[in-house]
Amino acid sequence: MSTASSPAKVMLLGEHFVVHGAKSVLCAIDKKVHVITKPIENRQIRINSDVSQHALDIDSTPGRILELAPLEFMARKLISEFNHVGGLEITIQSDIPPGVGLGSSSACCVAAAGSVSRVFTNYTREKILELAIESERTMFKDASGADSTACMYGGIIEYTKTGFEEIRTDYNPIFVVANSMQAHSTSSMVSRVREFQEKNPETFVSLCDKVSELVEHSRHAIMANDLVSVGNSMKKNQEYLEYIGVSNDKLHSMINVANKTSYGSKITGAGGGGCIVSLVDNDCLDATLGNLRDAGYDCFSARVDFAGLDTF
Ligand code: PMV
Repeated sequence: MSTASSPAKVMLLGEHFVVHGAKSVLCAIDKKVHVITKPIENRQIRINSDVSQHALDIDSTPGRILELAPLEFMARKLISEFNHVGGLEITIQSDIPPGVGLGSSSACCVAAAGSVSRVFTNYTREKILELAIESERTMFKDASGADSTACMYGGIIEYTKTGFEEIRTDYNPIFVVANSMQAHSTSSMVSRVREFQEKNPETFVSLCDKVSELVEHSRHAIMANDLVSVGNSMKKNQEYLEYIGVSNDKLHSMINVANKTSYGSKITGAGGGGCIVSLVDNDCLDATLGNLRDAGYDCFSARVDFAGLDTF
């Protein structure tokens, strides 16, 4: 039996634009998914979670259940690579709300890649990440890889499609995450942004450049604990996200409430629903949570997870 866990993530800057080559900043947070894998004798891939149980026959056609495609892909790949004669039972336990911009599917792919691969071998983190991203792309072919990289390594990272770097701090940032309770589809929001880009190519290039500049500036501000400056960059980034059409009235209202007491707020992830993230400190944490709750929004505080993928 092999167990692995991976944290969720928030996107501090750069979602959507990162798919088109811009820089981004992500932060792993202390909500987790755990994946347990057991070899079994039957030629089946069994996938169990709190909400469903599925048994896929290894010798039948793959890809019948779309939302299981990444896990099925990685299980089949390793079963075949290691000539495993039986099957696998994969159990997922998650406290990451799904489909709301906190990277639940990437975290699940990272934890599953860690857990399933350890049944057979000891892959490096790089190799596990490669498997997680390859699996994620079976469902969402445009995935930038940003979410999986943050979930794998933990901490705060600056990410572009060509690489990433850790942003080190000597303090532990605090966030408030509020959930609009509107589920979103990452791939349809990414398609919507692609339409905007095709209709407005020059504007889009200039927005990507501006986001990369915000990231460049914020990286130093994050290291220097200059929360005012980081918060202002988040507010500016939110304006760009609204401009490309991935925010909505509810998210806008939530952000207005959160901005009264926090340093800055924006959507996190694909938008069109999902969550917002606010940067706070100990002095404004309770007021921000209180104001959001008084306005009827579900919210929680989050801290950085520095561990990333954990296998045991
Ligand atoms: O909403 P999420 O957690 O799936 O975040 C998606 C982030 C995007 O930038 C919109 C897509 C990507 O692959 O980077």
